[in-house]
Amino acid sequence: MDFTTYYNNQKKLIDSFLENRLAKKGISKVDDAMAYSLLAGGKRIRPVLLMATAEALGVKGYNYLPVACGLEMIHTYSLIHDDLPCMDDDDYRRGRLTNHKVFGEAMAVLAGDGLLTLAFEVMLEQKNVDARVLVETVREMAMCAGNFGMVGGQGLDLENEGKTISAEELRKMHAGKTGALFIAAVRGGAHLAGANEQELLALTKFADLLGLAFQITDDILDVEGTAEDLGKPVGSDEKNNKSTYVSLYGLEAAKALAEKTVAEALECLEMFRENAEALREITRLMCSRKN
Ligand code: IPE
Ligand code: IPE
Ligand code: MG
Ligand code: MG
Ligand code: MG
Repeated sequence: MDFTTYYNNQKKLIDSFLENRLAKKGISKVDDAMAYSLLAGGKRIRPVLLMATAEALGVKGYNYLPVACGLEMIHTYSLIHDDLPCMDDDDYRRGRLTNHKVFGEAMAVLAGDGLLTLAFEVMLEQKNVDARVLVETVREMAMCAGNFGMVGGQGLDLENEGKTISAEELRKMHAGKTGALFIAAVRGGAHLAGANEQELLALTKFADLLGLAFQITDDILDVEGTAEDLGKPVGSDEKNNKSTYVSLYGLEAAKALAEKTVAEALECLEMFRENAEALREITRLMCSRKN
């Protein structure tokens, strides 16, 4: 099977799981706001990554759809809040108006809260996994999403607006705001599929580098991409005086760094031989992507 077919198949599994799970309605219009952003598409790269990591360890990824899709809910909540006027103040996401533009700011805050909370309910609906393994996996997801991970990185992103920061500070911010959910995806798949210590170590390093390459490319696309391809506005970082890989290093150096990071990430996968082919393809996508 070629990689595009593989990726599309995985995305279909994820999209239909999410759609079915949201069919169970809550008690208010918050459900509509949650569904609006979650079912708007998106690359689904984090759940695909979780499933591909399980496959690198010889287990079918679709066994872990509840945990994988829970992670996508956490990611989508982060986007809804990231776009709010008090944060990046952006009007488009995933090819449509942002959540607050349609439902208002208060509802958008609640849609994010609802998705974050539902994520943990859905992850704990995962069957056919040892309870201790599931608890440890979900505990790590929480840590990666919170103040040591994505939320912490978003905090640094705000603190660093308008400042000239060091390369280390920029790396730390990216590791938090984007790297942590990539680590959650890869380590989640690894725990569920029963990785040993050595495999876990290699995969953690892989995920950290992959997350970095992904966010460097996001910074580049904010300058060089098109709103049509991206489904979100370009120039958002400059508008908000963000510290990014492009603002610190310039476009060309940022591109070279993304490529170097991808090469380093690929090296971490050697021990998984042919089982890691999907992970390798995902990794190569990191700096060639247009959206
Ligand atoms: C955007 O994430 C936010 C970043 C961490 C750069 P994605 O580029 O994965 O967004 P979707 O899920 O495809 O919309
Ligand atoms: C956001 O980074 C990372 C998140 C945790 C949501 P950006 O602010 O660069 O993401 P985009 O470019 O709006 O998708
Ligand atoms: Mg942001
Ligand atoms: Mg943003
Ligand atoms: Mg960006």
